[in-house]
Amino acid sequence: MKADIEVKLTLNGQPHTALADSRLLLVELIRDTLDSKGTRVGCLTGDCGACTVLFDGEVRKSCLILAASIAGNDVRTIEGCDGIEKLQEAFIADNSFQCGFCTSGMLIAAADLLKRNPSPSHDEIRHAISGNLCRCTGYESIVNAIWRAAHGEPA
Ligand code: FES
Ligand code: FES
Repeated sequence: MKADIEVKLTLNGQPHTALADSRLLLVELIRDTLDSKGTRVGCLTGDCGACTVLFDGEVRKSCLILAASIAGNDVRTIEGCDGIEKLQEAFIADNSFQCGFCTSGMLIAAADLLKRNPSPSHDEIRHAISGNLCRCTGYESIVNAIWRAAHGEPA
């Protein structure tokens, strides 16, 4: 495939122009073309949530967006998402990852939740990460970490 489609986007506050072929996915554009490796690639079918980013402020799975469809959109990954540091500290405090493959997507989903709802319940936290799969932790420690980040105390 020929990479001849011009794509303009803002990634973590920085404007970029890149060339893409018609099948290139946003997650591939972010990782491979723009060399920003914090976003993970898992299933590539929209199921696992590893590739979750903020797209114009909305939680989206970047494997479900064609790069060629992007027209100046604002994309935020864990390298440039507000509120991530507090969540990262909480994930460490609550041992909320093992392999870490899901963590980037979980952090984005959690940051979006806390922006919309700074004081979520356990059920609201579970709902916010319901599009993100974790094969290692059983989720409880992830929910606890998001609670800790929101409420400033252990769950
Ligand atoms: S890689 Fe996008 S949802 Fe799994
Ligand atoms: S820590 Fe391994 S998939 Fe979540």
